[in-house]
Amino acid sequence: FVTDSYHCWLQYRKIENADKYTNIASTISVALQSVVIDSAVNELKIALKSMLDIVPTVQQSVEDESSIILGTYESVNLNNYGISPKLFDDLNEEGYLVKTTDDNRQVLLIGKTDKGALYAAFHFLRILQQEESLIGLEIRETPKNQLRMMNQWDNMNGSIERGYSGNSIFFNDNDFTKDLARIKDYARLLSSVGINAISINNVNVWEVETKLLTKEFLPKVKEVATILRSYGITTYLSINYASPIELGNLPTADPLDKEVEKWWARKAEEIYSYIPDFGGFVVKADSEGRPGPFTYGRGHVEGANVLARALQPFNGKVVWRCFVYNCLQDWRDRKTDRARAAYDNFKPLDGQFLDNVILQVKNGPVDFQVREPISPLIGAMKETNQVVEFQIAQEYTGQQKDVCYLVPQWKEILNFDTYADGEGSTVKSIVDGSHYNYSHSGIAAVSNIGNDINWTGNTLAQANLYGFGRLTWNPDLSTEEITDEWIQLTFGHDPKVVEVLEFILLQSWRTYENYTAPLGVGWMVNPNHHYGPNVDGYEYSKWGTYHFADCKGIGVDRTMKTGTGYVGQYFGPNAERYNSLEDCPDELLLFFHHVPYTHKLHSGETVIQHIYNTHFQGVEEVETFIKKWNELEGKVENWVFENVKERFQLQLENAMEWRDRINTYFYRKSGIADEKNRTIY
Ligand code: GCU
Repeated sequence: FVTDSYHCWLQYRKIENADKYTNIASTISVALQSVVIDSAVNELKIALKSMLDIVPTVQQSVEDESSIILGTYESVNLNNYGISPKLFDDLNEEGYLVKTTDDNRQVLLIGKTDKGALYAAFHFLRILQQEESLIGLEIRETPKNQLRMMNQWDNMNGSIERGYSGNSIFFNDNDFTKDLARIKDYARLLSSVGINAISINNVNVWEVETKLLTKEFLPKVKEVATILRSYGITTYLSINYASPIELGNLPTADPLDKEVEKWWARKAEEIYSYIPDFGGFVVKADSEGRPGPFTYGRGHVEGANVLARALQPFNGKVVWRCFVYNCLQDWRDRKTDRARAAYDNFKPLDGQFLDNVILQVKNGPVDFQVREPISPLIGAMKETNQVVEFQIAQEYTGQQKDVCYLVPQWKEILNFDTYADGEGSTVKSIVDGSHYNYSHSGIAAVSNIGNDINWTGNTLAQANLYGFGRLTWNPDLSTEEITDEWIQLTFGHDPKVVEVLEFILLQSWRTYENYTAPLGVGWMVNPNHHYGPNVDGYEYSKWGTYHFADCKGIGVDRTMKTGTGYVGQYFGPNAERYNSLEDCPDELLLFFHHVPYTHKLHSGETVIQHIYNTHFQGVEEVETFIKKWNELEGKVENWVFENVKERFQLQLENAMEWRDRINTYFYRKSGIADEKNRTIY
């Protein structure tokens, strides 16, 4: 690692009782040549040196006696090892086999392609890092999701939209960074958890970033793509929909204009002359003031398809974001419901997008709140490729000051049954493409990294990056499995360290929810930067994010009869459940219903008492985190200890501010006292 400081989960700690591994690490036989294979060899060398103090001999041919055999199922003579090539039949091109020979003296790292071999190498190293046995190993893996994508929200001036870990590792001073070495380290981290695609610039594409598509910057995009490619990662760019005007001097960017169509086609050709395996475009159009087809009286279909036609000859894709809503709403207007927007805009267009268009849908209908229902658009379009978008960056979940481990949230989302196509239409089966047989689909997320020495601001936020990658590869991994892996790879095996970290991480999402906006109502944050409480911060704004609290009650009525009808976008039992005051789950109650403060929850508490209880409890939980973390002094690297300790102080202040503001606000509004008589101001 160039920073020589922080390697996240790839630090490859020294293994103390390494005897069981030393024989197997002496030689690597490489069965084919490619840049991706070179990365695998490189990684094995770094890791074996670091963990076992062994520098393996590398042979550029398969020596039968070699301890590690690295290659593809076509380049290695599998019969020599008693393996049938049939084992690879049902693996896709990124799949692999990790297998020890019968005498357990050799390990085979065999990919369906070279990418699979790289993933096999990372898997093998994970086994060593966890100090597991290699005896009788036979692991076959294939990624469940085709597109496993990272979205950087990096601007070329070096800032990161919603970045909480320093500046961009890609850009600086309106150009690419001079030293691209850190990008390689990032590629290693991403590849080690299975990420295979990345868009390197912010979805909001400003003036300089628009020019990424020109010869001024394409040579540098190419350089970056070359680094990423060697780790099996495909490069995408976010584009400005008005590029034909801004770069091409055309009078319009109307997608049905012949000159515009030609311009995009030529542009695609130019890009692919630099980067033959360029992934395609990520597009935020007609969203939060960004240009799009609406300006020309056209819709998303025409808008996306013109790009798709340009990219199609090169196998490129258009990732078209569905974050489209009226961001100039009058708060007096009680009819418009922002939550409805994605579905209302896109559902009617099902079947009209070209096959290389993928719609990217945020996991919730509003915007990455700590608790939201699942977007009803997911699964609602049988004939249109979809990916779900998560936010690893903790914009609304503590901004990497507060700990908020999101893997449990993502698991809940992926396991959610949409009933869009009857029972069993889970989000994971939609986005892995299996349910509707999508040709392209997967999971994308907003990255949480920057040039901070530990990448993610709060060191514990690395767990979100790790967990996201692992889940995109296999959404069926359990939260506990992923969490334990991350802890052991990053911190080693001290049972006390494992226990404390497990406790903090697994509790942290609920804790964050406890001291912030209650029962799914969302927001209540400071406008613009979105950190810290401000109950009415968005209540009279144009953004469509309201809670409607008055002296009697709170919540947004989204039911069929008396509300905005949003619940009608759900299918089958979900629509019924959310529509019913009795059946609606407590944690989403205020997202779907406006209720009096005295309304009784399933838990038996009233809404107001729940607000008081959870807010006192949230702070107590943070105090417990701090107590437990302090027990790790001397057991984790000192600077990591201090980094997390310092962040916990900020979290505690934040939690107390939330507790007191929320409790006081609702006490003053409702006039109802806390049953337990605790301090409210
Ligand atoms: C949120 C976020 C913006 C971002 C937008 C998006 O609204 O606050 O910074 O640009 O999402 O996803 O496009």
